[in-house]
Amino acid sequence: MPNNPSTPLILIDKAALRVAASNITDGAVTPGYQADRKEVIKLLNNALATELVCLLRYKRHYFIANGLQNGPIKTEFLRHAQEEQVHADLLAERIVQLNGQPDFNPATLIERSHAEYNDDIQIKGMITANLIAERIAIEAYRQMIHFIGDKDPTTSQMLTLIMASEEQHADDMRDLLA
Ligand SMILES: [Fe+2]
Ligand SMILES: [Fe+2]
Repeated sequence: MPNNPSTPLILIDKAALRVAASNITDGAVTPGYQADRKEVIKLLNNALATELVCLLRYKRHYFIANGLQNGPIKTEFLRHAQEEQVHADLLAERIVQLNGQPDFNPATLIERSHAEYNDDIQIKGMITANLIAERIAIEAYRQMIHFIGDKDPTTSQMLTLIMASEEQHADDMRDLLA
């Protein structure tokens, strides 16, 4: 019997759709969510702490860097600070979508962060610290993406986009050292 073009090859599980429709207090999280939600929220909160520490480090570097020849470097530090802020916001938003609480507690920020703060006063030391922090962030995001696999595609895609941005940041810092 020939295939009816209007019959889809994959049948939607209608019972699952009805369950999804009924639990409205769960917001974006439906019963089909495959990942370990609590573990994903923990990972995202550690990434949030990392982004906030990176934001503070770049902000300080932006304000501290001086000298006529360092204008373009200052601009780069500021742009990175702004992008770390965007990453932090994306992570916090996703934590809320997963019915978690984004942790902005400054008292525990540095111990939860993968990357370190830096209070260098020499430009070269600042750039090196940023390059190291970016490489740590890239590796942490890679491991998170691997852990989540295909169980939470929305989170995976977001982390992949952030990781691509950190790769760009690392490349920018290495160019400044050349
Ligand atoms: Fe970032
Ligand atoms: Fe970065």
